[in-house]
Amino acid sequence: MKINGKHFHTIWLKKDNTAIVQVIDQRKLPFQFEVFNLKSKEDIFFAIQEMVVRGAPLIGVTAAYGMYLAVLNYKGNDIDSFLIETAEYLKSSRPTAVNLAFAVDGFLDEVKGKNGENAIQAGLYFSESLKQKEIDFSDKIGEAGLSLIKEIYQQKNSTVNILTHCNAGWLACIDWGTATAPIYKAHHSGIPVHVWVDETRPRNQGARLTAFELGEEGVPHTVIPDNAGGHLMQHGMVDLVIVGSDRTTLNGDVANKIGTYLKALAAFDNNIPFYVALPSSSIDWKIEDGITEIPIEERNPDEVALIEGLGKEGITKVRLIPERSKAKNFGFDVTPARLVSGLITERGICKANKTSILKLFPKKK
Ligand code: MRU
Repeated sequence: MKINGKHFHTIWLKKDNTAIVQVIDQRKLPFQFEVFNLKSKEDIFFAIQEMVVRGAPLIGVTAAYGMYLAVLNYKGNDIDSFLIETAEYLKSSRPTAVNLAFAVDGFLDEVKGKNGENAIQAGLYFSESLKQKEIDFSDKIGEAGLSLIKEIYQQKNSTVNILTHCNAGWLACIDWGTATAPIYKAHHSGIPVHVWVDETRPRNQGARLTAFELGEEGVPHTVIPDNAGGHLMQHGMVDLVIVGSDRTTLNGDVANKIGTYLKALAAFDNNIPFYVALPSSSIDWKIEDGITEIPIEERNPDEVALIEGLGKEGITKVRLIPERSKAKNFGFDVTPARLVSGLITERGICKANKTSILKLFPKKK
């Protein structure tokens, strides 16, 4: 998608130097555009943990490049043990998004047993292919979700109002996004859409990133406080909710950014369709009960106690809560499948239950 009219992906290999992976530093957006260089597995760990890059599909692809950089810099003679250790190390950078495990385990399967230049080339090929796969997934999610927006537009014949939470946009992926892909496709095909963007405390991925990328693509949108969605729904101002997912279980429970569950409850109460857009790389095929089985990341309470914005001196943080008060910072929550109208995947739309999911992905049975 575009920044300043120029097409970008969120991650790429430096031109003329395949030992450097470059990413957009998402900690600085929307105020500054900076490219961040990653040269080692430690740099990759830092970038994922500190959220230089974030969003489930992008975390996965970045971790694959982390494995590649590790192989490239490896000087020892037991590469298989080294790869297993590196995979565990990278997986520990953020626990909730299953794409991370999907990517590093896939890398391991592909590169294990290879050595030297063979291992490097196989690792590079795997990482580049995973990146392309995620672009294709997002593109197809966009096409599948477009049909929902089209249907609503045909019924109401005026602007389709879509509410989204956090950033499940192209910045969370490589291109197109998950939740935003159908919105971009609708906008490009001339359907009038307007997006209600939840600010998404504490890190404000909605206010900072979703608003930024929608603006760069010229999609009409309005940022709202996290608490406003229910009110908008009660007053007919939301036609459809689309969110992303960091991990979806086989029975359709969805882990996504904290606050998603409350939006699903409000949508359910107001009979508004609540869809989750996700690539199959975000499905955890091994678990069924999201609430008990998905690990929920707990982040630094300072993300709640302080707020970051643009001041006279540049990007700055200010304190929000009394010095003596404690803060708690759960990164994600789980929306039970019964509140989800459907899952928008690269293979089409299905119900949020095991039978429907496996119908789309029969090889996972
Ligand atoms: O903590 P983040 O910014 O990595 O969380 C990302 C999300 O929760 C997104 O909402 C998301 O849907 C998953 S990525 C498409």
